[in-house]
Amino acid sequence: MRPVNKTALVTGITGQDGSYLAELLLEKGYRVVGMTRRSSTASMERIAHIEDQIEIIQGDLLDQASLVEALQKVRPNEVYNLGAQSFVPTSWNQPVLTGEVTGLGVTRMLEAMRQVDPSVRFYQASSSEMFGKVRETPQNEWTPFYPRSPYGAAKVFAHYLTVNYRESYGIFAVSGILFNHESPRRGLEFVTRKVSDGVARIKLGMAEKITLGNLDADRDWGFAGDYVKAMWLMLQQDQPRDYVIATGKSHTVRHLCDTAFRHVGLDYRDHVVTDPTFVRPAEVDRLLGDPSRAREDLGWRPNVSFEELVAMMVDADMERLWEHKGSSRKNSNVSSKRASTSSNGSSRKHVPASTSHKS
Ligand code: NAP
Ligand code: GDD
Repeated sequence: MRPVNKTALVTGITGQDGSYLAELLLEKGYRVVGMTRRSSTASMERIAHIEDQIEIIQGDLLDQASLVEALQKVRPNEVYNLGAQSFVPTSWNQPVLTGEVTGLGVTRMLEAMRQVDPSVRFYQASSSEMFGKVRETPQNEWTPFYPRSPYGAAKVFAHYLTVNYRESYGIFAVSGILFNHESPRRGLEFVTRKVSDGVARIKLGMAEKITLGNLDADRDWGFAGDYVKAMWLMLQQDQPRDYVIATGKSHTVRHLCDTAFRHVGLDYRDHVVTDPTFVRPAEVDRLLGDPSRAREDLGWRPNVSFEELVAMMVDADMERLWEHKGSSRKNSNVSSKRASTSSNGSSRKHVPASTSHKS
């Protein structure tokens, strides 16, 4: 590792992407400071394995003064703004909070940067959810936005604020328009993790069914570990520019189920049921990204295929749940079942999040 003498401030470091980005920046020799919000119970599970290598500062995207103080204390070269209320269904239940954190939170951070040090480079976590009811397929950097949720609308606001601070003040501020990216650290309420966790439970005899919503929704799913590399690359360019980050391939939720169940030798049709309560008030039917600009300017490409991603997630959940079963496993006959599913296991350590969420 070569020291780069750079400091990065990462909001949302306790989330899926924050944990992979922190690992990447540490590998590159950065001083990494994560901003976390105060909570009565710590949510450091995803970064527990690197806690001794990073610094933590308290701050909240709802509180402007805390952002100013964080920038003054940390003096970063780069800010990665990953903090957000990121679960789309919650944005209908809590639209004001979502707007405050996911939308206005970005204004607060950009204003804080303008006050403290406008030379700091800024990454905004924009989203393919902004394309919503898509105007064209595939979607690229010029595709108009048509958000279908309060979350999507908040992200559009944040996206244009980032563009505006670049154009108004010359700040090196970029938006990465990232399509869905997943991993064993994904929150349990998102569909990929809900499926991988459910498959593992069913295979281990701990459950019989998974209840889902719209099986026809189509997403361009990639691996989070690949996508954080694109975030870093965007801030190393000579000129600030926004980029679509995607695999260029899409799959339905039904195909996700089929792939995940097949991985453990089961048929999804025997175990997946649908319930209209999981169907959204306004759905995003199909997202498919065109990452040509990222390929050309950044040399970025995804390394993990959809099939590898699904296998990695199912294997990680099998391992986690197996460990939880603890001593009772000796008395059950599941060891042979587990052995039969480990052939595609990943050697990488993914530290799955085990926190339970309502999904
Ligand atoms: P995530 O796992 O839900 O993590 C969200 C992070 O935001 C958590 O660390 C959370 O902290 C933090 N946060 C929430 N409210 C906050 C507040 N008021 N102040 C400061 N931090 C706050 O999300 P992710 O999947 O890693 O995604 C990272 C970012 O990329 C998000 O902005 C998301 O909207 C965006 N994005 C994600 C995807 C995707 O497919 N994953 C695609 C496009 C864009 P706690 O631990 O305290 O809750
Ligand atoms: N969560 C969930 N649970 N989704 C389901 C279910 C279910 O039981 N059944 C079907 N789906 C469908 C949803 O209707 C949606 O069309 C699709 O699966 C993906 O849902 P999520 O995994 O919750 O992700 P998302 O696409 O809504 O949002 C994620 O990706 C965005 C980028 O496009 C989040 O990470 C956002 O923060 C991110 O911006």
